[in-house]
Amino acid sequence: MGKRQLKFNSRTIHGGQAPDEAYGAVMPPIYQTSTYAQSTPGGHKGYEYSRSANPTRTALENSLASIENGNYGLAFGSGLAAIDAVIKLLSPGDEVISTSDLYGGSYRIFKKIFEKFGIVFHFVGMQDTEEIAKHISAKTKLIWLETPTNPMMNIIDIMSVSKLARKHKILLAVDNTFATPYLQLPMDLGADIVMHSATKYLGGHSDVVLGALVVKDKELAEQLYFIQNASGAVCGPMDSFLVLRGIKTLHVRMQRHCENGRAVAEYLANHPKIEKVFWPGFIDHPNHEVAKSQMKDFGGMISFVPKGGNFQDAIKIVEKLELFTLAESLGGVESLAGHPASMTHASIPKEEREKSGVVDALIRLSVGIEDKEDLIEDLRQAIG
Ligand SMILES: Cc1ncc(COP(=O)(O)O)c(C=O)c1O
Repeated sequence: MGKRQLKFNSRTIHGGQAPDEAYGAVMPPIYQTSTYAQSTPGGHKGYEYSRSANPTRTALENSLASIENGNYGLAFGSGLAAIDAVIKLLSPGDEVISTSDLYGGSYRIFKKIFEKFGIVFHFVGMQDTEEIAKHISAKTKLIWLETPTNPMMNIIDIMSVSKLARKHKILLAVDNTFATPYLQLPMDLGADIVMHSATKYLGGHSDVVLGALVVKDKELAEQLYFIQNASGAVCGPMDSFLVLRGIKTLHVRMQRHCENGRAVAEYLANHPKIEKVFWPGFIDHPNHEVAKSQMKDFGGMISFVPKGGNFQDAIKIVEKLELFTLAESLGGVESLAGHPASMTHASIPKEEREKSGVVDALIRLSVGIEDKEDLIEDLRQAIG
């Protein structure tokens, strides 16, 4: 059976992989080398210098392309390095329409790094595709979206945005960090570029920082490979290996993240001291129907606001948590809690972040794969 035909769970393990040529190692060796012997100038076995390519990174890149239903994968030193490469496709004067509710670091690289090179960013609420259409001009070259969004768990209709992007010949990039290809496949819904902070669910064990891009189009892939090599923000072989190992259990981990996420979301929604819970699995979530149609399940990311809550109330809860670790990041096997206003989203000005709902009392949970009863017990004692 050709590996292209394998179903998703099999592709996390086998997609784009072959036993190592030297000794048949089932896992690709960590090729901890910067360079490769040549018999004559240019006489090499496909690898010359590890910024340009490294066999362990190639194995990861092939796996990424396979699990996202793309043709080409590219791995970088971090999620932000992957985003950096995408924006370097553009030229001064080009415009980008980005979702307004997005990871604070993505906002920061757009505003604080690329705006000064003459790239113009419009931050728009994208739950309604019509809103995006209002900002399109002849200069619009890229639409950037995250769904579910970090940390408000808004859902954007990828298919509907991709139709709009296609009509205007605009590239569509989707940050698939929260959902992962287990839950949603943006390429199948018309996206041109899929981006990951593989630091999160793909790595899955909070032990590596790495970024990824996947594309279908050859010319776009060539432009991105050029930027990857020319700008040089690549990941090392050890980190490539760790993410590749993480991907092999993505499907089983995600299944449990979703199961635990549902239990925790329902517990919080029924708690008398909780005002609001943001999780796309609730039928009264504003874009629940879109989530249901484009995602296989609803994931383990949840945000909530305590009743009458303010900054201090939220801080008290996150300080009291014992099993949930108060930490930046998400998507690992262990449950984490975060306070977006002072942590992940502190780089977004207060008025900007409050416009999209990131209030001082908001708490974000990355629900891990521990026993759900233990997680709920921890929340019970922390909320009081
Ligand atoms: C949705 C999302 N995109 C991008 C990033 C940036 O990735 P990295 O931290 O790997 O640079 C993050 C990091 O938290 C994220 O949550």
